[in-house]
Amino acid sequence: MMGIAEEAYEAIMSRRSIRAYEKREVEEEKIRKILDAAMCAPSARHEEPWHFIIIRRRETLNGIMRIHPHAKMLESAPVAILVCFEQALETSPGYAPLDCANATMNILHAAHALGLGAVWVGIYPRKERMDAVGKLLSIPEGVFPFALVPLGYPAEKKGRENRYKQERVHYEKW
Ligand SMILES: Cc1cc2nc3c(=O)[nH]c(=O)nc-3n(C[C@H](O)[C@H](O)[C@H](O)COP(=O)(O)O)c2cc1C
Repeated sequence: MMGIAEEAYEAIMSRRSIRAYEKREVEEEKIRKILDAAMCAPSARHEEPWHFIIIRRRETLNGIMRIHPHAKMLESAPVAILVCFEQALETSPGYAPLDCANATMNILHAAHALGLGAVWVGIYPRKERMDAVGKLLSIPEGVFPFALVPLGYPAEKKGRENRYKQERVHYEKW
C-alpha cells in the first residue's frame, strides 16, 4: 500500500492535459473541492489576489471557443473554471499572475486526484485574449482573466511521460 505522500507524488507524476471529456456533468461537490484546493495555493505575502468564475452555460463556452485560438476542447467540456486576479489585491508588485499560476496548478492536480481531466488554457499575458474574455464575462475593471481550465470526466487516456533532463540540473554552481 502506498502512503499518502507516495500517492501525492504519483498524482503529480501522472497528471496530463486532457482535452476530450465524457458527456457527463461534473458534480458541484467536486467543483467545490477543486476550488478549495485552488485557494489553498501559496501566494506572495499571502495576498490571495484570485477570483474564480465557474462556467457551465454552453453559449458562454462556445463564445470563449470563438475568441480563443486553442480552446477547441471546450466543445466537449461540461464546465470550465476561469481563474482571474484582482489587481487591487496585489500587495507585492507583479506577483498576482504568479499566485494565479499556483492556483491554476492546484486546480489541475485536484481535478486529476478526483478522477477528472483538465487542461490549462492560457489567457494571461496575451492582452487580446484578456480583453475579449473580460468583455464576454462582464469582468469589472481592475480584474483580469488569467487562465481557463475546462474540466470533465476524461474521454482520452494519456500515460505518464519521462521528461527528466539531467543536463538541466546543476549542482552548487552552473
Ligand atoms: C501557460 C500555459 C498555457 C497553455 N495554454 C494552452 C492552450 O491555450 N490550449 C491548450 O490546449 N493547452 C494549453 N496548455 C497546455 C500545454 O500544452 C501542456 O501542459 C503541455 O503540452 C504539456 O502537456 P501535459 O500537460 O500533458 O503534461 C497550456 C499550458 C500552460 C502551462
